Amino acid sequence: MAKQAQNYERYKSWTAESYEKQGIMTYLCRMPADRKILPVLSRIKDKSVLDVGLGTGDYTRLLIDDNRIVGVDQNPHLCRLNVKVHKGDATQLSTLVGGEKFDIVLSTWMTDYLNDEKLQSFFCEAKKVLKEDGQLLTTTIRPNGWGLVYLVLARYWRGTDKHACAKKRVADMLKNAGFNDIEILNLNSWLGIPWACLVIAK
Ligand SMILES: C[S@@+](CC[C@H](N)C(=O)[O-])C[C@H]1O[C@@H](n2cnc3c(N)ncnc32)[C@H](O)[C@@H]1O
Repeated sequence: MAKQAQNYERYKSWTAESYEKQGIMTYLCRMPADRKILPVLSRIKDKSVLDVGLGTGDYTRLLIDDNRIVGVDQNPHLCRLNVKVHKGDATQLSTLVGGEKFDIVLSTWMTDYLNDEKLQSFFCEAKKVLKEDGQLLTTTIRPNGWGLVYLVLARYWRGTDKHACAKKRVADMLKNAGFNDIEILNLNSWLGIPWACLVIAK
């Protein structure tokens, strides 16, 4: 629990500017993954979107003109966009948003901060705050291949205790949370090696 808290607390001392300085993992992993994520985001228009763990709002920025966005983050000071950001945990969404319902719950590169128990809780809370036909869009890290390299580097280089989750386990957790229509797509690094997943669930 203490370690878990340390993970997102490392952002406490960061500013929006220092966060913008992206590291090598951004170039190796996130940029190639964006080739699959950005086309999905570009189709979102006229929706209410809850961006969970939005950070500086790199992805929110792409949606803000055509949609109504609300954020949740443990570190709301990172976001300089004109967006309401609730300070709090991804496992307490329904309490934080106070009964509001959304077309989309978006969460990019946040679930790796959650252990299995918290990930399940996040999925259940996402389901609670979604409208009946609402959609969860999130990323998860794979526990093998380049995903494992990512976890090891995060732990020994950055001192961050990140978590991965196998596709089958992610699907089971989503079903437990009440999602039925589940798509889990591989996100590859530049070498074409899968390291993460894009989860699209209704
Ligand atoms: C790697 S950043 C991702 C930011 C943004 N979504 C993006 O893709 O650029 C992770 C963000 O998730 C937030 N975060 C981590 N664990 C969280 C939790 N349990 N609840 C809410 N926010 C959390 C951190 O404060 C940070 O802003």
